[in-house]
Amino acid sequence: MTKTDQAPLSPGSIIGILGGGQLGRMLSLAAARLGFECHIFDPVWGGPASHVSRFETNASYDNVDAVLSFAKSCDVVTYEFENVPALTAKTAASANPLFPNAQALNVAQDRFTEKSFIRDTAKVPVALFEPVNSVHELKRAVKKLGLPAVLKTRRFGYDGKGQVIIKSEGDIAEAWKAMKDTPAILEQFVTFKREVSVIAARSSTGETAAYPLIENVHKNHILHTSVAPAAEDTGRAQGLAVQIMSALDYVGVMACEFFELHDGALLVNEIAPRVHNSGHWTQDAGCIDQFELHIRAITGWPLGDTTPAHKMEMTNLIGQDVENWSELASEPKTFIHLYGKREVKPARKMGHVNRIID
Ligand SMILES: Nc1ncnc2c1ncn2[C@@H]1O[C@H](COP(=O)(O)OP(=O)(O)O)[C@@H](O)[C@H]1O
Ligand SMILES: [Mg+2]
Repeated sequence: MTKTDQAPLSPGSIIGILGGGQLGRMLSLAAARLGFECHIFDPVWGGPASHVSRFETNASYDNVDAVLSFAKSCDVVTYEFENVPALTAKTAASANPLFPNAQALNVAQDRFTEKSFIRDTAKVPVALFEPVNSVHELKRAVKKLGLPAVLKTRRFGYDGKGQVIIKSEGDIAEAWKAMKDTPAILEQFVTFKREVSVIAARSSTGETAAYPLIENVHKNHILHTSVAPAAEDTGRAQGLAVQIMSALDYVGVMACEFFELHDGALLVNEIAPRVHNSGHWTQDAGCIDQFELHIRAITGWPLGDTTPAHKMEMTNLIGQDVENWSELASEPKTFIHLYGKREVKPARKMGHVNRIID
């Protein structure tokens, strides 16, 4: 059966989501608007997604029996985080379609595999990089790439965790120590004009869609604000994202983060095989939002209109920022989204606000 022969899932079907955080919560809310019901799989009971979902399974990701019966109870399975273990993905996919596919997870979980795939298979430019497995290899990589450079663990890094900037040869030993002997990559330090991202989707019918370019500002390596549509959107970034999705035979929403250089060239920094923080502004922009877009893509629905009616700014509420909720709730042209996390912690994403700025 070719993809285009597959009938769309009807309202009332059950969507399984691996992971129960805020992304799962917002996916579940969007799915409910279309008449779907969600089943959350998460090791921890009572997380943000479970508050708004019909079914919840609490078991560890390596519990094959639990994953299998969860997947069997659903019509399609997706996930809200990229560190879904390979066996969990394989088990779920043996029972029902898993979108995005296991290859997307495999590529996105490891920075070396990811950058190699994007450069060599999808033929999309990335910064120069070298694999590094010892201090000796790190010295060799520094000679090859020059300084400054960024050393990053291959797996499990997020919000700047697991990375160190090497400015001089004197930093090498210390930087390698910080990796705690885990496989790493060394990346050329990129002097960028700005950081931009693209949220794009490819459906199980092969239809593709993308939002306008997003400009992102990070504070302490955590996303602070996203503005969209960004100035000087040539449409090239969206084209590159679609190229990567095609190479992966991808189904769902994918985020692609880029460094834009002073001459306008674009280098992919990383991809996320899921909805993404830099796409939250779409919820209040007067178009199909990224969460609904993902649900539509994995259920074979038409993707719909991704053209925003407004210019938007999204600001994350990190840690105690959330305590301003009542002031924010009275601001004009402002939409507040809270994730229902019971405990406020310093770097924890507690919610976000979307403001119409034009
Ligand atoms: N090679 C690089 N050159 C310059 N800045 C970088 C480089 N790699 C990462 N950064 C900065 O660090 C941030 C986080 O790095 P990233 O690789 O996206 O990891 P994470 O998984 O933590 O988001 C980037 O958004 C960028 O601001
Ligand atoms: Mg990043």
